[in-house]
Amino acid sequence: MQKRENWGSKIGFIMAAAGSAVGLGNIWKFPFTAGQNGGGAFVLVYLIFVALIGFSVMLTEFAVGRRRQLAAVGAFKSEDKRWTFAGVLGVLSGFLIMGFYPVVGGWALAYVFKVMGGLLNNPAAIGASFDAFITNATSPLMWMVLYLILNVIIVVKGVSSGIEKAGKILMPLLFGILIVIAIKGLTLPGAMAGMEFLFKPDFSKVDGSVILAALGQAFFSLSLGMGCMITYGSYLSKKENLVQNAAIVTSMDTAVALLAGIAMFPAMFAFGIEPAAGPGLVFVVVPTLFAEMGAMGPMFAVLFFIALTVAALTSSVSLLEVVVAFLIDEKKFTRKKAVLSSATVMALLCILASLSLGGVGPTLFGKGAFDVFDLLTDKIFLAIGGMLLCIFAGWRLKKEDLYGEITNNGTMDFPLFGMWYPLVKYVIPITIFLVAANGIRQGFESGSGPIMLVGIGIIAIFAAISKKL
Ligand code: PHE
Repeated sequence: MQKRENWGSKIGFIMAAAGSAVGLGNIWKFPFTAGQNGGGAFVLVYLIFVALIGFSVMLTEFAVGRRRQLAAVGAFKSEDKRWTFAGVLGVLSGFLIMGFYPVVGGWALAYVFKVMGGLLNNPAAIGASFDAFITNATSPLMWMVLYLILNVIIVVKGVSSGIEKAGKILMPLLFGILIVIAIKGLTLPGAMAGMEFLFKPDFSKVDGSVILAALGQAFFSLSLGMGCMITYGSYLSKKENLVQNAAIVTSMDTAVALLAGIAMFPAMFAFGIEPAAGPGLVFVVVPTLFAEMGAMGPMFAVLFFIALTVAALTSSVSLLEVVVAFLIDEKKFTRKKAVLSSATVMALLCILASLSLGGVGPTLFGKGAFDVFDLLTDKIFLAIGGMLLCIFAGWRLKKEDLYGEITNNGTMDFPLFGMWYPLVKYVIPITIFLVAANGIRQGFESGSGPIMLVGIGIIAIFAAISKKL
């Protein structure tokens, strides 16, 4: 058997896994989702889910991946053919997330050049120019393709050389710039109202859809529920401490999300921008804030969008890697062929997603492609994928085997095993089931219910034909 590629170094793995986790989910999605879901209470529920469910599921993914040293599908299939569908579902999620993620990645890339072209000169027009840009039929498509090409180049080069290097250099830069933005935002008049919105829970705003949104956000942001961390774990050496790695990645991801919130909400309240402004939030708030900074503003803004693009890249390459690893391991593609063919399909999905923002193209139950891909993955596939993984680990794998994998055959301590195990076996599956059921029920009031049900239907079909997958 061919020796499996391994991570160049421990720090390389953490940077790559954190690079996968930290991305548009933290900086683009978290702030606008928190804004749309009422702020503080959403953030609190999100943090609870991250600590209890996110961390435990990440540890489970690392363990399941490293155990067989096989990527998402193989890790399930090699234990039990009836479970193949759980892995294939992850590959499908990879395709669908890559059906809109590069669109937003392309926006970030475009903004590097828009800022250089003088976007900040007329702060009052920043919002309108964003709307005009994303609803345009051709220009976002060009940026999306450019962004996808960057992904292809990185993933063709393979695990340790490509992904690792990108993460190592540019993650710290992003963190630093976010701190600068946060400090600037907090010193604006009226900023404290933003902190209150973000951190003071108002429980009257919590309902089934807010809770499902928080769960989905936790999974999306931590890159869980679709085999990504299984795949990354499969490249991890048997000597690594899985618990420590999962804890570090979870904390880094959460720190960046909170920092992004702190960078954005105070400034929004100071500028009188609606918290529920939606997907345009970061592309409007951040440039407006930098426009306030005078001569230094444009330079910081350019750096910010470069760092955002790179953060997005280190995430999307991990999504692409899930699909590519499946095609290489299970379908015997060469790496190059796997990357090129999957990127082509993703580009087509992205064209649909991008056009849908301008109201062009097919709809499903009244929603355009962008919303459909997001709803299916963020609200259904990732959470249910996480639920399936926990059921698989808790009920299909042996407790001793899991213990052995997590503690490196007893050579490493994990005193919390006695808590983690029942969480994975009982608490998490039941919680996800209840949250999803309640969220779908509520979704029928807002029009997203039918699409979520379609998602459940797809999972059921996959499960039924599992042995053929
Ligand atoms: N976690 C990434 C982000 O926050 C997105 C992602 C989701 C990556 C699922 C891989 C798997 O941007």
